[in-house]
Amino acid sequence: MVDPVQPGAPTPPKLAVEHLSVRFGAKTALDDVSFEVRDQEIYAIIGPAGGGKTTLLRCLNRTINLQSAAVVSGCVRIDGVDNRTIRPEPDVRRRVGMVAPLPVGLPMSIYDNVAFAPRMSGVRDRTVLDAKVETCLRQAALWDEVKDRLDQLGTRLSGGQQQRLTIARALSHDPEILCLDEFSIAVDPVTTMRIEEVLRELRSDMTIVLVTNLTQQARRLAGRTAFFLQGKLIEVGETEALFEHAADDRTRAYVQGEFG
Ligand SMILES: Nc1ncnc2c1ncn2[C@@H]1O[C@H](COP(=O)(O)OP(=O)(O)OP(=O)(O)O)[C@@H](O)[C@H]1O
Ligand SMILES: [Mg+2]
Repeated sequence: MVDPVQPGAPTPPKLAVEHLSVRFGAKTALDDVSFEVRDQEIYAIIGPAGGGKTTLLRCLNRTINLQSAAVVSGCVRIDGVDNRTIRPEPDVRRRVGMVAPLPVGLPMSIYDNVAFAPRMSGVRDRTVLDAKVETCLRQAALWDEVKDRLDQLGTRLSGGQQQRLTIARALSHDPEILCLDEFSIAVDPVTTMRIEEVLRELRSDMTIVLVTNLTQQARRLAGRTAFFLQGKLIEVGETEALFEHAADDRTRAYVQGEFG
């Protein structure tokens, strides 16, 4: 059952989360969360551990389905279309890319890591694959470091390089929305800054949802920031306004680093 966008209707937001709740048994991980993300926006999600940030990202690309214990209500729309109606279902994962906190390298060469998705979608022409691999590695600011050793195992790269390889792989699906879950948890500050630069450049091509435990990272990158606490969206606002004049005491305490 597809619910198409009506002709003549105003353009829907790139991403709309509507009354989304997720329970794991008696535990409520997300509690009636609603917000919208605009096209070509970097939207940051901040908040203490256990607040539901990762669960939310899993709802965006529907990997939440893989967790049989999860009971989900409400919906997520991409360009106005309920993501449960998108067929074939793996298309949701292609359109909503995901970068996990720790690099997840496939046990194959650097080249094959990035060529994997295009090959799966039927690309066989070596010239096309070469160009795709180069573009994605360049976009992830990794090309110069690996261009002479594309046949080397991806898992032999440094942690920071592997995280950029993960980003290159996410980009190889041509995502419309790129989600990153605390990407800098295992990378050094210099790599973090390089990836931040990458995200600024990618913004003109896609929408970015950035879950970060570094509040200053949200401040450096995001147009708007949402603060999550214990499964609830407490407050969302233009990033500078949220950091300077949060409406809610709990948001203010968190962004000022006073949260226990
Ligand atoms: N598969 C699961 N089974 C049971 N409970 C879960 C499961 N996944 C998440 N939870 C619970 O849901 C809540 C939200 O978890 P989630 O991982 O989304 O939080 P988070 O904001 O990403 O935290 P962190 O900052 O530590 O990554 C937590 O209480 C967690 O224990
Ligand atoms: Mg998390």
